[in-house]
Amino acid sequence: MMAPPTSPVLDALIARAAMADAPRIEAVDLEGQRYWIKRPEVLSLRWRLQKGNPARLFARERRIHRALMARGAPVPPILAEGEGYLVLPDSGPSLEATLTDAAPDERLRACRAAGAALAGLHALGLAHGRPHPRDLCWDGARIVFLDFERGSSANASERRQIWDLVLLIHGTYGLSPRETPEVAALCDGYRQGDQRGLWKAAQAWAKRWRWIDPLTRPLQRYEARHKPHRRYKELLAIPLTFKRLGA
Ligand SMILES: Nc1ncnc2c1ncn2[C@@H]1O[C@H](COP(=O)(O)OP(=O)(O)O)[C@@H](O)[C@H]1O
Ligand SMILES: [Mg+2]
Repeated sequence: MMAPPTSPVLDALIARAAMADAPRIEAVDLEGQRYWIKRPEVLSLRWRLQKGNPARLFARERRIHRALMARGAPVPPILAEGEGYLVLPDSGPSLEATLTDAAPDERLRACRAAGAALAGLHALGLAHGRPHPRDLCWDGARIVFLDFERGSSANASERRQIWDLVLLIHGTYGLSPRETPEVAALCDGYRQGDQRGLWKAAQAWAKRWRWIDPLTRPLQRYEARHKPHRRYKELLAIPLTFKRLGA
């Protein structure tokens, strides 16, 4: 954990956060430390209609972040906040970046820790909502969750927690759609921390929904043939996810 920012650094960050026309998310380096400033999204009318009012969504995101923090979840501490901004310390490279850049051993450590962290979140009665490897950070010692939106909950149903687990497995396969020791490590980490029998519940879920795989097979073939450069192979990840859950 890095040292808390000095008050001149904090003042500079808050001044920066208030700047108009700034991007949604911005990394700021000050006195040898990196910080992240997050602001509401600027949405076109079409997206506003689909996603909702950005100011309200952002208020909700901040509320959930605070609630998760209060419950002891591994989330970045909020260094400063206002109606239009959040200032967070850097929590390390994303799990996605770790999976592409780190050495094999380190990738396994990060994945095991990510699985364990998700199980820990669930054991606290929480859910992330839409965990993807780009929204988990790994600093070499600790996993931290970012990006809370629809579905994040401080009072989560089992259904939401199952969905978290399925999405994290699916998102990880989407980065490289084949059997990998990384996904196995992720699942092992989860299962070791699973105090609520959620792995079994996710397996039952997968059995009920496994027809999604044959149904989407033409789309999976399309993705394999025509979209080799897609960053996230979300369709090819489907059969692997069901198989991993034993369906
Ligand atoms: N505190 C942080 N530490 C490290 N990386 C961060 C942090 N906050 C954001 N990021 C990086 O910025 C990306 C976008 O941030 P996120 O909170 O997910 O916003 P969005 O809602 O736009 O997806 C993340 O995927 C991560 O790579
Ligand atoms: Mg995100």
